[in-house]
Amino acid sequence: MTTKVYKISDPSFPDIEILKKAADKIRSGGLVIFPTETVYGLGADATNESAVASIFSAKGRPSDNPLIIHIANPNDASNYAITTELYFKLAKRFMPGPLTVILKARDNIPKRTRGGLETVAVRCPESIIARELIKLANTPIAAPSANLSGTPSPTSVKHVIDDMMGRVDIIIDGGDADFGLESTIVKIEDDSTLTLLRPGKITVEDLEEIAPVRIASAVTAELNKDEVALSPGMKYRHYAPKAPLILFDGDIKKLPEYIKNSASNSVAVIAYDEDISSIKALLPCVRIYPFGSAFDTYFQAHNLFSVLREADAENFEEIYAPLPKTTGISLALYNRMIRAAAHKIIRL
Ligand code: TXA
Ligand code: MG
Repeated sequence: MTTKVYKISDPSFPDIEILKKAADKIRSGGLVIFPTETVYGLGADATNESAVASIFSAKGRPSDNPLIIHIANPNDASNYAITTELYFKLAKRFMPGPLTVILKARDNIPKRTRGGLETVAVRCPESIIARELIKLANTPIAAPSANLSGTPSPTSVKHVIDDMMGRVDIIIDGGDADFGLESTIVKIEDDSTLTLLRPGKITVEDLEEIAPVRIASAVTAELNKDEVALSPGMKYRHYAPKAPLILFDGDIKKLPEYIKNSASNSVAVIAYDEDISSIKALLPCVRIYPFGSAFDTYFQAHNLFSVLREADAENFEEIYAPLPKTTGISLALYNRMIRAAAHKIIRL
């Protein structure tokens, strides 16, 4: 398949002719990669079964892992799902924005889009390019992150091209993703409480202002072998670099000694700016990837997936990175990083 790449120079005032071409592709059952404020999405008409099937094959994604449907206006959710009072409270506060809500699905969203579930994930992105595209296509757009299954979500058009060139009809280049980690996902429970399935820019603290929040155990811990995943995506080892990623916690001064004692010859460390000089002094041969200030969680979120992709391309034997905290935005970093590390954490 030939892939056309169209660049939008000003994402706040997108070129309508480009979006019309992309919307026509969606309407005729094609695949279009588009930017959002979180990560790039790989989109198709959510109501078209065969178009949705081609998303799964383009990504190499297991068919039981459901897709998020993207809508241009939060009120449109009622056309495809059973919306509740709590949904509209969340919508008023956080939409358009990086929040995905799981609701009971209506029949017009095919089972294939929902991975066979009775529920559907709905999101109204903040990105103007994304919302204009949905409006012009005049249909909800099903879109997972636009990476090959098992690689980190793409936050730049380079990542998209590396993974997806030749696998889709159109790529819309809207520059780097603003936030850099995927949307927060919550499920609305029958008792009008929320279950957090995936942490993101909208934090637990933000959500608790609207309703009580329970954090699904898989957000921070490993699923037991016989445990059923509340969100099918939880059971796959996502965001995984080829080299083993090891997270460290505790006294950073002990890290150089730990690395010296490990058998690996080529090691990379993802390090907070505050720690770089002391690591360099003791481990001059180690490759360091700066991760911003320890306090700048937005910078870390923005850069995590590119750092993982860059480090991965170098074929290190081991990659070390600091274990994030579990509050605020850090919970999203913690969730992505423990999964990329397959839960390997060392206490220094
Ligand atoms: O920021 C984002 O959400 C990006 C952009 C493109 O919008 N999309 C994204 O999609 O991250 P994806 O498919 O990579 O991740 C969606 C997650 C998966 O883990 C999937 O299992 C879960 O949402 N999910 C989708 N529908 C669900 C449902 N009905 N119930 C529970 N989990 C669901
Ligand atoms: Mg994904």
